[in-house]
Amino acid sequence: MSLISQTPQWQALRQHREALGEVRMRDWFAADPGRAERMTREVAGLVVDYSKTLVTDATLALLLDLARAADLPGWRARLFAGAPINGTEGRAVLHVALRNRANRPILVDGEDVMPQINAVLARMERFVARVRSGEWTGYTGKRIRDVVNIGIGGSNLGPKMVCAALAPYGGDLPRVHFVSNVDATHLVETLSGLDAETTLFIVASKTFTTQETMTNANSARDWLLAALGDASAVARHFVAVSTNAERVSAFGIDTVNMFEFWDWVGGRYSLWSAIGLPIALSVGFERFIELLEGAHAMDEHFRSAPLEENLPVLLGLIGIWHTNFCAAPTHAVLPYDQLLRLFPAYLQQGDMESNGKRVTRAGEAVDYGTGPVVWGEPGTDGQHAFYQLIHQGTQLVSADFIGAARSHYALGDHHTKLMANFFAQTEALMRGRTQDEALAEMRAAGLDEAQAQALAPHRTFPGNRPTTSILMERLTPFTLGALIALYEHRIFTQGVIWDVNSFDQWGVELGKQLASVILDELRAAQAGVEHDASTRSLLEHYLRLRGASAPG
Ligand code: F6P
Repeated sequence: MSLISQTPQWQALRQHREALGEVRMRDWFAADPGRAERMTREVAGLVVDYSKTLVTDATLALLLDLARAADLPGWRARLFAGAPINGTEGRAVLHVALRNRANRPILVDGEDVMPQINAVLARMERFVARVRSGEWTGYTGKRIRDVVNIGIGGSNLGPKMVCAALAPYGGDLPRVHFVSNVDATHLVETLSGLDAETTLFIVASKTFTTQETMTNANSARDWLLAALGDASAVARHFVAVSTNAERVSAFGIDTVNMFEFWDWVGGRYSLWSAIGLPIALSVGFERFIELLEGAHAMDEHFRSAPLEENLPVLLGLIGIWHTNFCAAPTHAVLPYDQLLRLFPAYLQQGDMESNGKRVTRAGEAVDYGTGPVVWGEPGTDGQHAFYQLIHQGTQLVSADFIGAARSHYALGDHHTKLMANFFAQTEALMRGRTQDEALAEMRAAGLDEAQAQALAPHRTFPGNRPTTSILMERLTPFTLGALIALYEHRIFTQGVIWDVNSFDQWGVELGKQLASVILDELRAAQAGVEHDASTRSLLEHYLRLRGASAPG
């Protein structure tokens, strides 16, 4: 197949972009009182307004033509049917099955996966009930007070983000902690203050080979054994979540205490599987199911709504417009909800590991931009850090604003102020301020004409910064599930248009391979001769600075 950029639909979008010329969103709003209503949709508890983006109705129509040219409906059908759409790994991609609350049969190689999913959910439910009730005790008979999830990437970011987001639903016990970095600081600081007798470790790794996770898991086991002094304690204090029973058992965890998932669950799409165990431990199994239900509601919408009404499709296409036709190289995710503070970091893996690709599914180099850099921080902190660049810098940044109408914490007028900032920022980014408006404001404030003229360029805002606003009544397990699924399907939509495999991650391999070579050299305190001059010299400096006492 030729590149998507060679299609008439892509070319039509290019011409349309040229014909649009300089966009003035405020004029669009003035001329079209129905714009906001037409470009706002409510799905699964989320109100999404994309009217402050750089699209017209004609743009959307052309983008929808592009989606059809890329056979988005066909790819969507194959996703839900369990076809092996992860071509380079020959795997189905079935995170949607994990939250298929309708329990509709979904076949992989002719076998319905729902019974195995339901069986693991039932095991999770029993285990969570035992830990939360205190029935599951540690080796010395004490109740579990702290759970430490050891995992990285998808085995960390998703559950960690959700646990933070749903903190108001968590009870006192157990407290859930996350260790991901191989940097000893992470494990040591997390364990300091914890009591081995009342601590449960979840070793979460799809492959059970990931260096960081296995190193942390081994050190955690040493910590436990040093305190409890008996290898049989491991069975009461370690459980595993993995696809690899053999490795789990080789580590010393009884596979009775292993919660399984499957190779058709991608790491960054796995929080819905047993990888979500820390979520269920933290907020209870019922809440975990509500999370799945929210995602399922969004799945049903994505699966069945016509493209022109389909929210993940529309947001994906608008993202394509901004990336490929409006030259926005990055996309900011700005939660106006402190509970969602980890959402941008979670999405970085979700989006950038999925669509940070440079060849098509057929292996041909693309000649267009693919996944943008995704970044962000919660409002209002971001306003006092990087919003300056979004408002007046030279790069176009598209942004998503996410907020709730009601806070979990009723404290004075904090929430009203927070949301006033949300709305003000999206309005300011859209409207901007013309030079004439800036001048008029300064004159009204009594500045003399020379001063006003000198300051005017600095106080002018170009506006036309595209934002999408996502509002919900309150951040609940259900709305959070829907929100995450919205982004997952947005990522899927974009991957289909860009014709990349959104479900592999070969790009993380090279660094891993080189690290293992260098690890051997550092252990032997001898830099290899094969390296480039810079790497070799850095290794030598490192060995010199480290001194004779080589660590393990
Ligand atoms: O970063 C690469 C990656 O393979 C991710 O895709 C994955 O989420 C992470 O490593 C952890 O992998 P595992 O769950 O197998 O330890």
